[in-house]
Amino acid sequence: MREKVFYVTTPIYYVNAEPHIGHAYTTIVADFLARWHRLAGYDTYFLTGTDEHGEKIAQAARASDEEPQAFVDRMSARFRQAWKKLNIKYDDFIRTTEPRHKNVVQQVLQKVYDAGDIYYGEYEGLYCVGCERFLTEKELVDGRCPDHGTVPERRKEGNYFFRMEKYRLWLKSYIEENPDFIRPEGYRNEVLSMLSEPVGDLSISRPRRRVPWGIPLPWDEEHVTYVWFDALLNYVSALGYPDGEKYRRYWEHAWHLIGKDILKPHAVFWPTMLKSAGIPIYRCLNVGGFLLGPDGRKMSKSLGNVVDPFALADRYGPDVVRYYLLRDLPYGLDGSVGEAALVERYNADLANDLGNLLSRTVTMIEKFFGGYIPSPGPAEGPDHELISEAEKLPDAVESLIRRMELSEALKAIWKFIGRANKYIDETAPWALAKDPAKKERLATVIYNLAEALRIISVHIEPAMPGIPAKIREQLGINDENLTSWESVRRFGVLPAGLNVGDKKIIFPRIEGPVEIKTAEEKSKGQQLITIDDFAKVDLRVAEVLEASRIEGADKLLKLKVRIGEETRQIVAGIAKHYSPEQLIGKKIVVVANLKPTKLRGVESQGMLLAASSKEKVVLVTVDEDIEAGAKVK
Ligand code: ME8
Ligand code: MG
Repeated sequence: MREKVFYVTTPIYYVNAEPHIGHAYTTIVADFLARWHRLAGYDTYFLTGTDEHGEKIAQAARASDEEPQAFVDRMSARFRQAWKKLNIKYDDFIRTTEPRHKNVVQQVLQKVYDAGDIYYGEYEGLYCVGCERFLTEKELVDGRCPDHGTVPERRKEGNYFFRMEKYRLWLKSYIEENPDFIRPEGYRNEVLSMLSEPVGDLSISRPRRRVPWGIPLPWDEEHVTYVWFDALLNYVSALGYPDGEKYRRYWEHAWHLIGKDILKPHAVFWPTMLKSAGIPIYRCLNVGGFLLGPDGRKMSKSLGNVVDPFALADRYGPDVVRYYLLRDLPYGLDGSVGEAALVERYNADLANDLGNLLSRTVTMIEKFFGGYIPSPGPAEGPDHELISEAEKLPDAVESLIRRMELSEALKAIWKFIGRANKYIDETAPWALAKDPAKKERLATVIYNLAEALRIISVHIEPAMPGIPAKIREQLGINDENLTSWESVRRFGVLPAGLNVGDKKIIFPRIEGPVEIKTAEEKSKGQQLITIDDFAKVDLRVAEVLEASRIEGADKLLKLKVRIGEETRQIVAGIAKHYSPEQLIGKKIVVVANLKPTKLRGVESQGMLLAASSKEKVVLVTVDEDIEAGAKVK
């Protein structure tokens, strides 16, 4: 039998921008795997981190007017905060600017150089800074990078090259002989097709005068290491390659998790680099699909369909966000995400299925057995099926997880939750309770439900680490022997007599409209009004006669405006955007039939209209001169 050791990695994320839902998704998947393997008794190590060198990072630091090191320090911390928010429990967080990493990069470069696999040459090609690599003509779509939509730059310069092509056929047969090396299978086929023709050699350096932000080559200080050659090595540098204990323990068990955007560097560059350096290759590469906006389109700021996982975690808690992403997206495929779908999933699986099972069970323990878990009698009827489903569950879940069918693994757990709910309907404990002769049968039913919940609480921990404690508190379980993976292989381990805690609703149903939405969902879900509703608002052109600041209110201006024959006083929050002088004489638009109100003690008889974005606020005015008092409709 293979030793139970598990090493899981995420990509190290570029620190040029804030963490987003794609990063969150991959990291949640890794955390789920790490937690399950720890639970199941694997010696587990989970690595994540940040990728901090290269042109893209140097550009971003410049754009924010910071020294590269200060910039990457600040941005890398943002990722650690983000992971805290999602309850990610990593064992190590590597940064490529750390000395422990730089040393390894230089050592490995030297090894590959000494092996004769690096030479100097002239290179000309099409470079995408977003991808940080040269793209082949074949990869372009209408002359643009398919991932970044940008036209790559034609570049010609002196670089060092790694003899990648030399290892192509070796890699191809390795992948052919090891069907589980790259999965899901679609990506394995994609890589095999890349390898069916020459892949060329890999440019692994940049002239220092053009890209100073990187690790110098050990034999030529005038060149720095190409960011991918640097970044990929994090997976071994973090373990203390070449002779660290962790390296020796974990490396050969490595499971890499990536998104499909970085398939080529991980499936082609990385194994050939390892081969040349005499390092064994990783165990497997797991490729996730892309998250799309709720509208099924690629998420992008300009489309306004970006879903913010951290805002979702603030609102619903990390457990719900984790469960939603893991359950809704079959690993490896592209899928849409959105808050409305999250709420639907929450109501169905958490509030209904799991929440109801727990609250019905705890209620019945209180009601029928004074709050103590009763001791069961002999099994009969539907008990047998419930018990056999429970005992089959751990192995079924284990094999789905090891095959990366994570959504299916959760589905199997929820199928069992459904089985337990159905068991309540079949056994009708409320009816049993009416017949004193059925007391023992009632005790058996209630015991079985409590035991089913104990088993469920263990199974859901990797996805929702915050929930098991809440379930166990209500069942009165606080013995670690009852919460291990081994303990769920057998039904009937829960001791009778445990005193249940106070009943609490852990997943209250979410009713009514969902609030944080993408811009697009918002405009779709906005309430429509009729022309009559609009006609209630009396909009008028007004001329500004006077304007002045208000003592003690630095955002407010007090205006005197003329609407036809009438003059009015209006207080407006535009002092940060307009000076009083700028306003005098302007024709603006005001709501003339607004109830008067007081702002900072100053009466306001109406409201002016202004357009606002994140950066600015501008007044609504009329296109041509027209008399003050004219109606706007
Ligand atoms: O590529 N859907 O970093 P990166 C799903 N530094 N996953 C997504 C996603 C989306 N829309 N967008 C991003 C880099 N991801 C390199 C990696 S590793 C040695 C160096 C996830 O910040 C997915 O895992 O661009 C993808 O592969 C990764 O973020 C890219 O992160
Ligand atoms: Mg990227």
